[in-house]
Amino acid sequence: MDERVNENTTENNTDRFLTIAMPKGRIFDEALGLLRRAGYDLPPEFDDSRKLIIDVEEADLRFILSKPMDVPTYVEHGVADAGVAGKDVMIEEERDVYEVLDLKISECYMAVAALPSYDAKTDIAPKIATKYPNLAAGYFREQGEQVEIIKLNGSIELAPLIGLADRIVDIVSTGRTLKENGLVETETMMPITSRFIVNPVSYRMKADRIDEMVERLEQVVEGGSMR
Ligand code: PRP
Repeated sequence: MDERVNENTTENNTDRFLTIAMPKGRIFDEALGLLRRAGYDLPPEFDDSRKLIIDVEEADLRFILSKPMDVPTYVEHGVADAGVAGKDVMIEEERDVYEVLDLKISECYMAVAALPSYDAKTDIAPKIATKYPNLAAGYFREQGEQVEIIKLNGSIELAPLIGLADRIVDIVSTGRTLKENGLVETETMMPITSRFIVNPVSYRMKADRIDEMVERLEQVVEGGSMR
């Protein structure tokens, strides 16, 4: 096991700490900014560290830094009391967690895209590449369209360019990745923002602390920054 993890997991103070699962990557900085504006004094090691567990002793907070897609898993299993997860991940993962607050950060949307030459009408067995197989399958089922889903782990835009798939289902933020790879959006599916999610048991056992955090975050989200 990674020493950095081992070092941190030897102390098992789960009751003392409120444990929050944070998604590494594009959401991380915005989520961090939100927590800081909500009055949580997060040390600089959050900004420049490879640690996977960071304790903020003064506030009795423990942060675990995970892959975005895994945040709901940690929260569902109760190893994190709460977490920050994109709506895309929530739809894909269908975990048994409470979605408590729309943090309104990392705004983007889910879309279907293809090469401009692609003609859906003549395609009898469409292949769809995506990081979100459940979400995509649900969407096309609703549309009444039969498709084959090909699960990839990233660089989804590559799939139509090299003939692996006809269309992709992916998030669009600035639209740059689609544009620079010569793809066009064919359908807009749903808007995506990040959510604050909570483990149902933690919500009962640590109600006061979780409510306080939700209220502080809500104030910032609704425009009344605490700092
Ligand atoms: C995401 C998404 C798109 C891109 C969209 O990928 O999968 O590829 O960002 O952003 P844009 O509209 O601003 O260009 P990410 O960078 O998370 O990496 P990935 O390809 O490994 O999933």
